[in-house]
Amino acid sequence: MKVLVVGGGGREHALCWRLAQDPAVTRVLAAPGNAGIAQVAECFPDVRADDLDQVVDLVERRDVELTVVGPEVPLVAGLADALRKRGRNVFGPSAAGARIEGSKAFAKEIMARRGIPTARSGAFDDVGRAVAFVDELGGAAVVKADGLAAGKGVVVASDRGTAAMAIEDCLVAGAYGDAGRTVVVEEVLEGPEVSIFAVTDGKGSCVLLDSAQDHKRVGDGDTGPNTGGMGCYSPVPFLDQDTATWVLDNVLTQVVDELRPYRGVLYAGLMLTPDGPKVLEFNCRFGDPETQVLLPRMPYGFGTLLHACATGRLAYEAGHAGFDDGAAVTVVIASGGYPGAYGIGFPIHGLEAAEAIEGVTVFHAGTARDDEGRFLTAGGRVLSVTGVGADLAEARARAYQGVDGIHFDGAHHRTDIAAHAVEGARA
Ligand code: AMP
Ligand code: GLY
Repeated sequence: MKVLVVGGGGREHALCWRLAQDPAVTRVLAAPGNAGIAQVAECFPDVRADDLDQVVDLVERRDVELTVVGPEVPLVAGLADALRKRGRNVFGPSAAGARIEGSKAFAKEIMARRGIPTARSGAFDDVGRAVAFVDELGGAAVVKADGLAAGKGVVVASDRGTAAMAIEDCLVAGAYGDAGRTVVVEEVLEGPEVSIFAVTDGKGSCVLLDSAQDHKRVGDGDTGPNTGGMGCYSPVPFLDQDTATWVLDNVLTQVVDELRPYRGVLYAGLMLTPDGPKVLEFNCRFGDPETQVLLPRMPYGFGTLLHACATGRLAYEAGHAGFDDGAAVTVVIASGGYPGAYGIGFPIHGLEAAEAIEGVTVFHAGTARDDEGRFLTAGGRVLSVTGVGADLAEARARAYQGVDGIHFDGAHHRTDIAAHAVEGARA
């Protein structure tokens, strides 16, 4: 089977890496890919992930049997529909299904219809009415741009003034462009966060993968601005099996049923509040960096699993969705300045030595290669260093051993990824 992975970050490196290990996969292509992905896949750097025509053309030209879409933007834009119209197998939902991520107001409607617990909220395109709802909530509120805002677009405001400013930024100043024409205002929830993933085939099969916890703020102790994710671990020790099963039956399966036929990943971000689990958001694709901790613990038949989802045969191949008993931790190394402005083109040192450490895999998120073959930084998130081990403590120690040997000008990372989980606390 010839597989194309659409995207070019750490998530896509992990996808390509795992797919290349499946005996059923004969060839892995990536569009656009990156310098790390090029070690395991044939890359097409000129094909942009969100250029639907270019991707469709590549699939036809190379007769790709399965396309796996990494990021949300092409899914929301209808890449899966364009490919299916030509009879191609795709792992990823149609534009109609991807709307669960593409519009937070739409996600809220679905949740209301299916009785899925979530924060109390309202959707507004008028500042006055949005601020009146903030007052109704008591002054503290979470303000979210309705559409896709690349992980930004959410402000957790502890007082009315901050909430009102965030609403104005979104609706009047146009801080998120079209994505912010509608604003969702919701109550502030409290509790530890978990990401729960399921794969589904559009034919009624929905299989839970393992859970993970992301660390979204840039600084240690969850300080500083939000990022795309600075590190992650799996499994989440404070998520018990009963709660995970409850989420599968009462959250994920409900949404999949509402959006059928939905083929791909459905990923719920939840908060475990004192009143039970509540959904913060849904995503229509694998997480980044969650994928870098999920895949290393999955069996080799990963391509077979995704193909089964794309072709409505998940019921026969669900065995490939298992997880080993160990744990994984990934730590993102970012460019100086990220998530703000940053420079690129700095040589990266120590990659080979890090990769030689037992249980360590280095996934490339934003790298390029120069004429002499040296790896250079080429993005905000540069590398995602994953350690696997028998438990979270061992996985964490290995990930940081890998991180400590890697250097480039301006590099920074969090030093507390999975620290609370290793200590047994509900972070
Ligand atoms: P989202 O993109 O909706 O997941 O929001 C990004 C982050 O904002 C989440 O990971 C939470 O840390 C925070 N957040 C979102 N909604 C809420 C809420 N209702 N209460 C508290 N924090 C929230
Ligand atoms: N790590 C968060 C996300 O992929 O949305």
